[in-house]
Amino acid sequence: MKKITVAMTALAAAGALALAGCGGGDDTTTAPPSDGDNTQQPDDGDATEGEGFAADATIGISLPQKTSQNWVEAEEMFLAGLSEAGYNPIVQFANNGASEQQQQIESMIEQGAKVIVIGAVDGSQLSSQVERARDAGVKIIAYDRMIQETDAVDLYVAYDNFQVGVGQGEALLKGLAERKGDGPWNIELIAGSNDDANSKPFFEGAMSILQPKIDDGTLKVLSGQTTQAQVATEGWQASVAQNRMDSIISGFYGSEELHGVLSPNDTLARAAIASAQAAGKDLPVLTGQDSEDDSVASVAKGEQYHTIFKDTRGLVDAVLAQIDLAQQGQPFNSNAEVDNGTIQVPTDFLTPISVFQDNAAEVYANDEARAKIVADNS
Ligand code: BGC
Repeated sequence: MKKITVAMTALAAAGALALAGCGGGDDTTTAPPSDGDNTQQPDDGDATEGEGFAADATIGISLPQKTSQNWVEAEEMFLAGLSEAGYNPIVQFANNGASEQQQQIESMIEQGAKVIVIGAVDGSQLSSQVERARDAGVKIIAYDRMIQETDAVDLYVAYDNFQVGVGQGEALLKGLAERKGDGPWNIELIAGSNDDANSKPFFEGAMSILQPKIDDGTLKVLSGQTTQAQVATEGWQASVAQNRMDSIISGFYGSEELHGVLSPNDTLARAAIASAQAAGKDLPVLTGQDSEDDSVASVAKGEQYHTIFKDTRGLVDAVLAQIDLAQQGQPFNSNAEVDNGTIQVPTDFLTPISVFQDNAAEVYANDEARAKIVADNS
């Protein structure tokens, strides 16, 4: 039985990576199979359950654009973890969007990948590719983002996205009460990109907490923009969210205070902070997600109110363990099911953790890089 864990060297490397220079370039990374202790010979069979596949098989990892630090960390961790386990990894980013990702997946199938792990750019645009993969005997794991409208997804591995949204909604209320005196409070809402299947559960989770408070008048949204369609951020781009917040602040908050902003992730939280600062407003209470380095520092300093820790090591390790099961011909492990519009996809859900200034040191205690950022900024 192989032991697969993410190497500490990969963590250090990932921690040091910035998001700068995300676009373009050759975004494929591969590693030769290790000459470790894998004695199994390649077989010609396909990856149907019960059969397994060679211990040095090719595994494809198809990631979206580098719209947040977690994707960059995942690349390093997959490469290190798969290589260490003796597999032959192909790790690619689809920086140019959904059609590039379709081509990359097709090519992984042609290169004989036995499992393809996909963080979808657009979860609704991959059905023909994953169905072709299934026909070729390849197992498909949806990573972090669901692949929709197809029955050819074998497993979904993610942090529970609805719970991420619930955590953000709860954090916003907690922060308003702590930092903005008595209500009612003025808030604005930001959602993620519409092509990312996660944006809906994030938003719905948050609104399950916030909508009753909007209905009873505790929260006011002066822009009147409260539907996911109205508040979505195309491509998760900071500039899109910042422009939207700029016009909302100038249009609706001339003499009014903006007390809080629901942000679905750290990148967009920092965009909203920049917008409020540019308009000379007091810092609103901001939620976030991902525990990106800049936001960890901001939370530690007491600026960004909240973030969420979805430890990428945990997510990658969960996927690596599932790949190992498939390699041995064992069924995948799941603890939930998620509807992708066609089937209930067996799901391996992990639990997200809310982070505030007062628990940051504790939450990141076993993450050396983030623990250091907290210590340096406290
Ligand atoms: C991920 C988030 C991330 C966002 C933008 C989502 O699918 O779950 O962690 O912030 O994409 O990259």
